[in-house]
Amino acid sequence: MTKPNSADALPINTILEGDCIDVMNGLPAASVDLIFADPPYNLQLKGDLHRPDNSRVDAVDDDWDQFSSFSAYDQFTRDWLKAARRLLKPDGAIWVIGSYHNIFRVGAALQDAGYWILNDVVWRKSNPMPNFRGKRFTNAHETMIWASKSEGAKYTFNYEALKALNEGIQMRSDWVLPICNGGERLKDEDGEKAHPTQKPQALLHRVLVGSTKPGNIVLDPFFGTGTTGAVAKMLGRDWIGIEREDKYRTVAEKRIAAVRRLDKSSLEVTASKRAEPRVPFGQLVERGMLRPGEELHSMNGRHKAKVRADGTLIGNDIKGSIHQVGAHLEGAPSCNGWTYWCFKRDGKTVPIDVLRQQIRSELD
Ligand SMILES: C[S@@+](CC[C@H](N)C(=O)[O-])C[C@H]1O[C@@H](n2cnc3c(N)ncnc32)[C@H](O)[C@@H]1O
Repeated sequence: MTKPNSADALPINTILEGDCIDVMNGLPAASVDLIFADPPYNLQLKGDLHRPDNSRVDAVDDDWDQFSSFSAYDQFTRDWLKAARRLLKPDGAIWVIGSYHNIFRVGAALQDAGYWILNDVVWRKSNPMPNFRGKRFTNAHETMIWASKSEGAKYTFNYEALKALNEGIQMRSDWVLPICNGGERLKDEDGEKAHPTQKPQALLHRVLVGSTKPGNIVLDPFFGTGTTGAVAKMLGRDWIGIEREDKYRTVAEKRIAAVRRLDKSSLEVTASKRAEPRVPFGQLVERGMLRPGEELHSMNGRHKAKVRADGTLIGNDIKGSIHQVGAHLEGAPSCNGWTYWCFKRDGKTVPIDVLRQQIRSELD
């Protein structure tokens, strides 16, 4: 945790403390490839929210989410977007995630600041929190806006890599991923959530694989538990985090220190127009990368399944492919087993897709 002491020095792979606008204004211009921002939502919660059994819902009522009015929030948004844009390289881009409370205001501010909106991506939560009062629809998604620094910028879009991640089908702008829970959810000493809005790693995995290259610099001005830094490090990207709360910086530092950077061959992604060679899951078993009987864990930590000798899985008495068993356990119409299942090595949880990439790089 350091403060930048020179406007020329870019403190990569560090968590900077303080207000993100001040800190960003002290960093060198045109130095960052991508910004991922998960700003305050300005939820404007009034009173506690309770479940039907009268237990209190752990909602976002923290100081960092309080603004006196919409116009105060808009001013804050304009200020941080301006500071962020100065830091982006000419071909850089930004992702901002938000909910209906703030994302429309952020979208207008992005356009007013000169960014060029490329897509809005709906993150549909496969396991959202129910609407306890039953007076509105279950709030089952958040929206991410992806924008380049300006119109005409040559932003990075790894179309083929995203398609490969989606088993050869063009990646769409609606992403079905679970919220962060299970083993991935960081807890404090009392077993409570370390942060109220920790984002799932799978979301950042897709964002970073899709819109950065290995070695790029990714900045997150609202770092929280450091999800962006953890995934960036794993994927061989450099990162900078800014967070004003001591307790979150401490959690993020510890988390990122435990992440292992993938080796170079696993980081290479599909770059050409030609489709990547298909790797059946069974090949991982045939080649001894996974053993029959070995346990796989779902990315959200909620489910387990065993690998069988023929490359199928068995979990909860359901047998089938990695995709079929994942979909069944999640109660979802489909599931990309490659990004859903993980295995354990040396105490670390690793997505099985890493093994597929390893085979593909050998084939190349
Ligand atoms: C929505 S949370 C981000 C959570 C994060 N994406 C994660 O996965 O853990 C927003 C974070 O921004 C921090 N924050 C809010 N306003 C800030 C500011 N002006 N400067 C720096 N950090 C700020 C809050 O303390 C909070 O941790």
